[in-house]
Amino acid sequence: MVKQEIVMSGIRPTGFLHLGNYFGAVRNYVRMQDEYNCFFMVADLHSLTTHPDTKELRANVRRVIAENIACGLNPDKVALYCQSHVYETGELYLFLNMLAYKGELEKTVTFKDKAKLQPDNVNAGLLTYPVLQTADIIIHRAQLVPVGKDQEQHLEMARNFVKRFNHRYGEVFPEPYAFNYGEDLARVPSLDGSGKMSKSENQMATVYLSDDDELIRKKIMKTKTDSGPTEKNSAKPDYIQNIFLLLQLFSKKDVLEKFENDYNNCSIRYGDMKKQLAEDVVAFVKPIRERTESILNDEKYMREVMEKGAEKATQSAKITMQLVRDAIGLKYY
Ligand code: TYM
Repeated sequence: MVKQEIVMSGIRPTGFLHLGNYFGAVRNYVRMQDEYNCFFMVADLHSLTTHPDTKELRANVRRVIAENIACGLNPDKVALYCQSHVYETGELYLFLNMLAYKGELEKTVTFKDKAKLQPDNVNAGLLTYPVLQTADIIIHRAQLVPVGKDQEQHLEMARNFVKRFNHRYGEVFPEPYAFNYGEDLARVPSLDGSGKMSKSENQMATVYLSDDDELIRKKIMKTKTDSGPTEKNSAKPDYIQNIFLLLQLFSKKDVLEKFENDYNNCSIRYGDMKKQLAEDVVAFVKPIRERTESILNDEKYMREVMEKGAEKATQSAKITMQLVRDAIGLKYY
C-alpha cells in the first residue's frame, strides 16, 4: 500500500553522479518508490547559480536522468523530471522570496562556501538558492526529502519558510524533513580525506558512476594510508576511517570484519584492503555504467521519460499553486 506522505528530492546536473549521490540520495529514492508517491528531479535551474555556461548542461541533465534509472528508479512509478519543465516552481519561488530574509540567507553554509569559490559571481540566485529548493519541495506539498547530510540546513530553512507562509496565509503546506531510513543522514567522504565526495571539486577523489574499471582501481589505490597502527586497538586516523567507511558500504560483512580485526591486531595490509575495496566498487559501478549507456542511446525512451515526468509534476504543481494563490488572496473578481 502506498503511504500518505509525499516524497520529493533533486540532484544538480553540475557533473555526473558519484558514490556520494548514490548513498546520500538515489539509494533511498529506489527504496521509497514502492512505498510513497514520489517526485524526483534534475535541478537544472539551481545549476545556473554556479554554472552559467550551459555548454554541458544537456549532456549532464540527460546523464543524471539515465543514471537514476540505471540505479533502479522506475519512471512509471515516480515522476522523474527536469526542474525547468515545471514553470509553476518559479512562481512559488517568487512568493517565498518575500518570506525569506537577507540575514538568514547570508548565513547559509552553502552560500558562504560558494561565494568564496566564485567571488566574482555572487548572484542573487546563489543567495536565494534555499528558497528555490523549498519551492521545489513544497510545490508537491512533500514531507519527506531523501538527501545526504550536507542538505540538512536547507531543510531546516525550508521548514522556516513553510511556517512563515502558513502563519501568514493559512495552512497550505506540511513541514518537510530530510529523510534516511532509520539512520543518520549519509555523508560519503572524499577519497583524499578532505571533506565529502563532490561532483565538481577534486575529480581524482570522487568515484563517478561513469568511471571505467581501471579508473576506479586507480583512484582507490591512490588513497592515503600510512605504515599501519603500532598499538593494538588504537583509534583510526580520519583517512583510514574513511576507507573503512567505504568498505562498510561496498564490501561483505566478513570482509569488513577481517580488516577490522587485522587493524586491531596491527597486522593490517592496506594494499590488500584497497585492492579488495576497489574490486567491490568496480563490481557495484560496472552494471550501472553499462545500463546508463544503453538508456542514453535510446533517444525515444529518454524523451518519453522527460515528457511523462514533466506532465506528472506539472499536474501536481498546478493544484498546489491554485491553493497558494487563493491563500495569499490574489483573487480580484
Ligand atoms: P546535490 O546535487 O549536491 O546532491 C544530490 C544529492 O546527493 C547528496 N550528496 C551526498 N550524500 C552523501 N555523501 C556525499 N558525499 C554527498 N554528496 C552529495 C546530497 O545530499 C543530495 O541529496 N540542493 C540540492 C539539489 C536540490 C534539492 C532540491 C534536493 C535542488 N532542489 C529539492 C532536495 C529537494 C543539491 O545541491 O544536491
